[in-house]
Amino acid sequence: MDRIPPNLASSGAIEIAEILKLISGGKILDIGTGDGGSLQFLIDFLKDYDTAVGIDNDKDELEKARVRFKDKPITLKVLNGEKLEYDDGTFNLVSMSFSMHHIQNLHNALSEMKRVLKNGGYFMIQEMFSGGNQTIAQKNDTAVHELGAEVDRMEGKYHREEYTKGEIVAILSQLGLKDLEIFETSRYVKCLKCGEKDDCEDPKHPSTIKSTLEDIDKGLEPIKERKEYSKFKERAEIIKQNIKTHGISSTSILFCIGKKAN
Ligand SMILES: C[S@@+](CC[C@H](N)C(=O)[O-])C[C@H]1O[C@@H](n2cnc3c(N)ncnc32)[C@H](O)[C@@H]1O
Ligand SMILES: [Zn+2]
Ligand SMILES: [Zn+2]
Repeated sequence: MDRIPPNLASSGAIEIAEILKLISGGKILDIGTGDGGSLQFLIDFLKDYDTAVGIDNDKDELEKARVRFKDKPITLKVLNGEKLEYDDGTFNLVSMSFSMHHIQNLHNALSEMKRVLKNGGYFMIQEMFSGGNQTIAQKNDTAVHELGAEVDRMEGKYHREEYTKGEIVAILSQLGLKDLEIFETSRYVKCLKCGEKDDCEDPKHPSTIKSTLEDIDKGLEPIKERKEYSKFKERAEIIKQNIKTHGISSTSILFCIGKKAN
Protein backbone atom coordinates (compact mmCIF):
# COMPACT_ATOMS: atom_id res chain seq x y z
CA MET A 1 0.00 0.00 0.00
CA ASP A 2 1.17 3.61 -0.60
CA ARG A 3 2.15 5.96 2.16
CA ILE A 4 -0.82 6.42 4.49
CA PRO A 5 -1.42 9.85 6.06
CA PRO A 6 -1.20 9.76 9.90
CA ASN A 7 -4.87 10.33 10.78
CA LEU A 8 -5.97 7.66 8.33
CA ALA A 9 -3.29 5.28 9.64
CA SER A 10 -4.49 5.70 13.25
CA SER A 11 -8.20 5.72 12.38
CA GLY A 12 -8.89 1.98 12.62
CA ALA A 13 -9.32 1.69 8.83
CA ILE A 14 -6.27 -0.54 8.35
CA GLU A 15 -7.58 -3.18 10.80
CA ILE A 16 -10.84 -3.37 8.83
CA ALA A 17 -9.00 -3.67 5.51
CA GLU A 18 -6.89 -6.50 7.00
CA ILE A 19 -10.03 -8.47 7.86
CA LEU A 20 -11.64 -7.98 4.47
CA LYS A 21 -8.55 -9.06 2.62
CA LEU A 22 -8.83 -12.55 4.18
CA ILE A 23 -12.45 -13.09 3.08
CA SER A 24 -13.60 -14.75 -0.11
CA GLY A 25 -17.04 -13.22 -0.72
CA GLY A 26 -18.43 -16.02 -2.93
CA LYS A 27 -22.00 -15.05 -3.77
CA ILE A 28 -22.69 -11.60 -2.27
CA LEU A 29 -25.94 -9.73 -1.58
CA ASP A 30 -25.77 -6.00 -0.81
CA ILE A 31 -28.91 -4.29 0.55
CA GLY A 32 -29.50 -0.57 -0.17
CA THR A 33 -26.80 -0.58 -2.84
CA GLY A 34 -27.68 2.88 -4.17
CA ASP A 35 -25.18 3.98 -6.81
CA GLY A 36 -22.95 1.02 -5.93
CA GLY A 37 -20.35 2.85 -3.84
CA SER A 38 -20.37 0.31 -1.04
CA LEU A 39 -20.44 -2.70 -3.36
CA GLN A 40 -17.44 -1.21 -5.14
CA PHE A 41 -15.74 -0.92 -1.74
CA LEU A 42 -16.41 -4.61 -1.05
CA ILE A 43 -15.06 -5.90 -4.32
CA ASP A 44 -12.01 -3.64 -3.97
CA PHE A 45 -11.18 -4.83 -0.45
CA LEU A 46 -12.33 -8.48 -0.25
CA LYS A 47 -9.82 -11.18 -1.18
CA ASP A 48 -12.15 -12.17 -4.03
CA TYR A 49 -15.79 -12.88 -4.89
CA ASP A 50 -17.73 -14.86 -7.52
CA THR A 51 -20.91 -12.89 -8.16
CA ALA A 52 -22.84 -10.13 -6.46
CA VAL A 53 -26.42 -8.89 -6.33
CA GLY A 54 -27.16 -5.30 -5.30
CA ILE A 55 -30.73 -4.37 -4.42
CA ASP A 56 -32.32 -1.00 -3.75
CA ASN A 57 -35.84 0.40 -3.92
CA ASP A 58 -34.59 3.50 -5.77
CA LYS A 59 -34.49 2.73 -9.48
CA ASP A 60 -32.57 5.89 -10.42
CA GLU A 61 -29.69 5.20 -8.01
CA LEU A 62 -29.45 1.62 -9.31
CA GLU A 63 -29.08 2.94 -12.87
CA LYS A 64 -25.83 4.63 -11.78
CA ALA A 65 -24.66 1.31 -10.32
CA ARG A 66 -25.55 -0.40 -13.61
CA VAL A 67 -23.16 1.91 -15.46
CA ARG A 68 -20.43 1.46 -12.87
CA PHE A 69 -20.61 -2.36 -12.93
CA LYS A 70 -21.37 -2.97 -16.60
CA ASP A 71 -18.38 -5.32 -17.04
CA LYS A 72 -18.68 -7.10 -13.69
CA PRO A 73 -20.59 -10.26 -12.64
CA ILE A 74 -23.00 -8.06 -10.70
CA THR A 75 -26.80 -8.06 -10.93
CA LEU A 76 -28.76 -5.00 -9.83
CA LYS A 77 -32.40 -5.27 -8.89
CA VAL A 78 -35.13 -2.90 -7.76
CA LEU A 79 -36.33 -4.62 -4.61
CA ASN A 80 -37.44 -3.74 -1.10
CA GLY A 81 -34.89 -5.03 1.40
CA GLU A 82 -37.70 -5.66 3.87
CA LYS A 83 -38.95 -8.58 1.76
CA LEU A 84 -36.39 -10.42 -0.33
CA GLU A 85 -37.33 -12.80 -3.12
CA TYR A 86 -34.41 -15.19 -2.57
CA ASP A 87 -34.51 -18.68 -1.07
CA ASP A 88 -33.14 -19.37 2.39
CA GLY A 89 -29.35 -19.81 2.46
CA THR A 90 -28.70 -18.43 -1.05
CA PHE A 91 -25.70 -16.16 -0.31
CA ASN A 92 -22.22 -16.52 1.23
CA LEU A 93 -22.00 -12.87 2.33
CA VAL A 94 -24.75 -10.33 2.97
CA SER A 95 -23.98 -6.66 3.56
CA MET A 96 -25.63 -3.34 4.22
CA SER A 97 -23.65 -0.09 4.18
CA PHE A 98 -24.81 3.30 5.41
CA SER A 99 -28.44 2.27 4.84
CA MET A 100 -29.61 1.16 8.29
CA HIS A 101 -31.01 4.59 9.09
CA HIS A 102 -32.83 4.70 5.72
CA ILE A 103 -34.82 1.51 6.13
CA GLN A 104 -38.22 1.92 7.68
CA ASN A 105 -38.71 -1.63 8.92
CA LEU A 106 -35.12 -2.37 9.83
CA HIS A 107 -36.07 -5.44 11.86
CA ASN A 108 -37.60 -7.08 8.78
CA ALA A 109 -34.63 -6.15 6.57
CA LEU A 110 -32.09 -7.61 9.00
CA SER A 111 -34.15 -10.81 9.43
CA GLU A 112 -34.39 -11.16 5.66
CA MET A 113 -30.62 -10.69 5.30
CA LYS A 114 -30.08 -13.45 7.82
CA ARG A 115 -32.63 -15.76 6.20
CA VAL A 116 -31.03 -15.62 2.73
CA LEU A 117 -27.52 -16.13 4.17
CA LYS A 118 -26.01 -19.63 4.24
CA ASN A 119 -25.18 -21.09 7.65
CA GLY A 120 -21.66 -19.94 8.52
CA GLY A 121 -21.84 -17.12 5.92
CA TYR A 122 -20.68 -13.57 6.61
CA PHE A 123 -23.09 -10.89 7.82
CA MET A 124 -21.62 -7.41 7.41
CA ILE A 125 -22.91 -3.97 8.36
CA GLN A 126 -21.28 -0.57 8.04
CA GLU A 127 -23.03 2.42 9.53
CA MET A 128 -22.08 5.92 10.59
CA PHE A 129 -22.97 6.97 14.12
CA SER A 130 -23.49 10.21 16.04
CA GLY A 131 -22.27 11.11 19.52
CA GLY A 132 -19.24 9.82 21.37
CA ASN A 133 -16.09 11.90 21.36
CA GLN A 134 -16.01 12.99 17.75
CA THR A 135 -14.23 16.15 16.58
CA ILE A 136 -16.06 19.41 15.88
CA ALA A 137 -15.45 18.76 12.16
CA GLN A 138 -17.21 15.38 12.50
CA LYS A 139 -20.07 16.95 14.48
CA ASN A 140 -20.48 19.36 11.58
CA ASP A 141 -20.97 16.33 9.32
CA THR A 142 -23.69 15.02 11.65
CA ALA A 143 -25.38 18.46 11.59
CA VAL A 144 -25.31 18.51 7.77
CA HIS A 145 -26.70 14.98 7.69
CA GLU A 146 -29.53 15.84 10.09
CA LEU A 147 -30.51 18.90 8.03
CA GLY A 148 -30.69 16.73 4.89
CA ALA A 149 -32.56 13.95 6.69
CA GLU A 150 -35.17 16.46 7.93
CA VAL A 151 -35.64 17.75 4.38
CA ASP A 152 -36.14 14.14 3.22
CA ARG A 153 -38.70 13.54 5.96
CA MET A 154 -40.63 16.67 4.95
CA GLU A 155 -40.67 15.26 1.44
CA GLY A 156 -42.17 12.03 2.76
CA LYS A 157 -39.04 9.85 2.64
CA TYR A 158 -37.96 7.69 5.56
CA HIS A 159 -34.56 9.02 6.70
CA ARG A 160 -33.96 9.05 10.43
CA GLU A 161 -31.10 10.72 12.29
CA GLU A 162 -27.87 8.78 12.63
CA TYR A 163 -28.00 6.02 15.23
CA THR A 164 -25.65 6.23 18.21
CA LYS A 165 -22.94 3.61 18.62
CA GLY A 166 -24.87 2.01 21.50
CA GLU A 167 -28.04 1.72 19.41
CA ILE A 168 -26.21 -0.01 16.54
CA VAL A 169 -24.44 -2.42 18.88
CA ALA A 170 -27.75 -3.25 20.61
CA ILE A 171 -29.52 -3.92 17.29
CA LEU A 172 -26.74 -6.19 16.02
CA SER A 173 -26.33 -8.03 19.31
CA GLN A 174 -29.94 -9.20 19.05
CA LEU A 175 -29.34 -10.98 15.75
CA GLY A 176 -27.76 -14.06 17.33
CA LEU A 177 -24.70 -13.99 15.06
CA LYS A 178 -21.59 -15.89 16.06
CA ASP A 179 -18.09 -14.39 16.19
CA LEU A 180 -19.56 -10.88 15.95
CA GLU A 181 -16.75 -8.28 15.87
CA ILE A 182 -17.33 -4.55 15.88
CA PHE A 183 -14.67 -2.07 14.77
CA GLU A 184 -14.76 1.69 14.79
CA THR A 185 -13.04 4.05 12.41
CA SER A 186 -13.03 7.80 12.05
CA ARG A 187 -12.09 7.60 8.36
CA TYR A 188 -13.57 5.85 5.35
CA VAL A 189 -11.72 2.57 4.84
CA LYS A 190 -12.05 3.17 1.08
CA CYS A 191 -9.63 6.12 1.48
CA LEU A 192 -6.82 3.58 1.93
CA LYS A 193 -7.11 3.05 -1.82
CA CYS A 194 -8.28 6.49 -2.87
CA GLY A 195 -6.14 8.82 -4.93
CA GLU A 196 -6.84 11.84 -2.73
CA LYS A 197 -5.76 10.52 0.65
CA ASP A 198 -4.14 13.75 1.79
CA ASP A 199 -7.17 15.83 0.81
CA CYS A 200 -9.58 13.42 2.53
CA GLU A 201 -7.36 13.63 5.60
CA ASP A 202 -7.70 17.42 5.89
CA PRO A 203 -10.99 18.65 7.45
CA LYS A 204 -10.28 22.14 6.13
CA HIS A 205 -9.35 21.22 2.58
CA PRO A 206 -10.70 24.13 0.46
CA SER A 207 -12.32 21.94 -2.18
CA THR A 208 -14.10 19.79 0.45
CA ILE A 209 -15.38 22.91 2.23
CA LYS A 210 -16.50 24.49 -1.04
CA SER A 211 -18.38 21.42 -2.27
CA THR A 212 -20.00 20.86 1.15
CA LEU A 213 -21.28 24.44 1.32
CA GLU A 214 -22.69 24.07 -2.19
CA ASP A 215 -24.32 20.73 -1.31
CA ILE A 216 -25.98 22.25 1.76
CA ASP A 217 -27.64 24.92 -0.40
CA LYS A 218 -28.61 22.37 -3.06
CA GLY A 219 -30.10 20.15 -0.36
CA LEU A 220 -32.59 22.87 0.60
CA GLU A 221 -33.91 23.38 -2.91
CA PRO A 222 -36.74 20.81 -2.65
CA ILE A 223 -38.33 22.80 0.21
CA LYS A 224 -37.84 26.31 -1.21
CA GLU A 225 -41.58 26.90 -1.54
CA ARG A 226 -42.44 25.67 1.95
CA LYS A 227 -43.14 27.96 4.89
CA GLU A 228 -40.41 26.22 6.91
CA TYR A 229 -37.74 27.19 4.36
CA SER A 230 -36.50 30.35 6.12
CA LYS A 231 -35.96 28.47 9.41
CA PHE A 232 -33.97 25.78 7.56
CA LYS A 233 -31.98 28.42 5.71
CA GLU A 234 -31.06 30.12 9.02
CA ARG A 235 -29.94 26.78 10.45
CA ALA A 236 -27.96 26.02 7.30
CA GLU A 237 -26.12 29.36 7.54
CA ILE A 238 -25.04 28.58 11.12
CA ILE A 239 -23.79 25.14 10.07
CA LYS A 240 -21.96 26.67 7.08
CA GLN A 241 -20.24 29.17 9.38
CA ASN A 242 -19.15 26.34 11.70
CA ILE A 243 -17.76 24.44 8.75
CA LYS A 244 -15.78 27.48 7.57
CA THR A 245 -14.32 27.81 11.09
CA HIS A 246 -13.73 24.17 12.07
CA GLY A 247 -13.85 22.22 8.80
CA ILE A 248 -15.80 19.05 8.05
CA SER A 249 -14.82 15.43 8.40
CA SER A 250 -16.91 12.29 7.95
CA THR A 251 -18.75 10.98 10.98
CA SER A 252 -17.17 7.90 12.55
CA ILE A 253 -18.46 4.53 11.40
CA LEU A 254 -18.91 1.10 12.90
CA PHE A 255 -17.87 -1.87 10.82
CA CYS A 256 -19.60 -4.99 12.09
CA ILE A 257 -18.96 -8.53 10.91
CA GLY A 258 -20.28 -11.82 12.19
CA LYS A 259 -21.36 -15.23 10.91
CA LYS A 260 -24.74 -16.91 10.75
CA ALA A 261 -24.78 -19.58 13.43
CA ASN A 262 -25.41 -23.13 12.18
C1 LIG B 1 -27.15 6.33 2.03
S1 LIG B 1 -27.64 5.28 0.73
C2 LIG B 1 -26.33 4.07 0.77
C3 LIG B 1 -25.92 3.61 -0.59
C4 LIG B 1 -24.73 2.66 -0.65
N1 LIG B 1 -24.90 1.50 0.20
C5 LIG B 1 -23.43 3.36 -0.33
O1 LIG B 1 -22.90 3.15 0.77
O2 LIG B 1 -22.93 4.10 -1.16
C6 LIG B 1 -29.04 4.40 1.37
C7 LIG B 1 -29.78 3.57 0.34
O3 LIG B 1 -30.77 2.75 0.97
C8 LIG B 1 -31.84 2.60 0.05
N2 LIG B 1 -33.04 2.09 0.73
C9 LIG B 1 -33.81 2.71 1.65
N3 LIG B 1 -34.83 1.91 2.04
C10 LIG B 1 -34.69 0.74 1.34
C11 LIG B 1 -35.43 -0.46 1.30
N4 LIG B 1 -36.52 -0.67 2.07
N5 LIG B 1 -35.01 -1.45 0.47
C12 LIG B 1 -33.91 -1.27 -0.30
N6 LIG B 1 -33.17 -0.14 -0.32
C13 LIG B 1 -33.56 0.87 0.50
C14 LIG B 1 -31.99 4.01 -0.51
O4 LIG B 1 -32.73 4.03 -1.70
C15 LIG B 1 -30.52 4.43 -0.69
O5 LIG B 1 -30.05 4.14 -1.98
ZN1 LIG C 1 -28.58 9.49 5.93
ZN1 LIG D 1 -10.57 9.36 0.28
